Amino acid sequence: MKRDAIVRLYDDDYAAKYEQEFLLAPLVRSDTEAELALLGKLLTPGTTWLDVACGTGFFLRHFPQVERAGIDLSPAMLKLARQGNEEVPLLQRDFRDPFPEWNDRWGLTSCMWYAYGLVDTIDDMQRLIENLWAWTAPSGTCFVPLADPRLITGVDLPYQAPTHNAGKVMITGIMWSYVEDDGRKTHSHMLAPNIEFMAEQFERYFDHVEVVRYPAPFPGWAGRPAVIATRKKPR
Ligand SMILES: C[S@@+](CC[C@H](N)C(=O)[O-])C[C@H]1O[C@@H](n2cnc3c(N)ncnc32)[C@H](O)[C@@H]1O
Repeated sequence: MKRDAIVRLYDDDYAAKYEQEFLLAPLVRSDTEAELALLGKLLTPGTTWLDVACGTGFFLRHFPQVERAGIDLSPAMLKLARQGNEEVPLLQRDFRDPFPEWNDRWGLTSCMWYAYGLVDTIDDMQRLIENLWAWTAPSGTCFVPLADPRLITGVDLPYQAPTHNAGKVMITGIMWSYVEDDGRKTHSHMLAPNIEFMAEQFERYFDHVEVVRYPAPFPGWAGRPAVIATRKKPR
């Protein structure tokens, strides 16, 4: 999505309802708890943390003992993020833009709740992944929860589909929209690459890439996946 469309979508009213709807509601609460537990493990004493697309600062707020920073595009989300994170630098920045001042700076970098899919092209997504890599310290960790096209569609999409042609057919991912309020609020044409494709993108930048799964929120459901990437490759 274009910058102005994201700022319009994440306006004051949307920001005010965001945490209740997407982090605290019964359907999502166990994922939020799994993420807080994972962050707690990754934030060992002395680890610094940059949360990219930090939204309302909900996750940052839970770890006051940690040196933290956040960036987001939406002034409305950042306004809420500043509450309870008074000491935390929170900058209005686009995650696609380089920021060399932060290269090798952060022990943990994260980008949560599918924010990486709010781009128009795979090139833009790769720009974000390259920035996450750049901003992660050489001994640091990058944590990115993944939007799983198989969970979104309920269809067991293959990464490689059979074909009679000589070439390989790769199902790179899906494009999807989240339509609310009769279309007045729409996350338009988000990208959700297949998990295998996402792991490959991180493997370009990190020697160790693990895909973990959260506990299933309900019996019969699959847990959401997340990438945990370590051993940053040198420039
Ligand atoms: C679904 S919310 C996730 C917020 C937060 N990460 C969380 O887990 O609660 C997506 C966030 O991504 C931000 N965002 C989208 N595109 C962005 C971009 N290009 N640069 C920085 N932030 C962006 C939005 O403003 C919004 O706050």
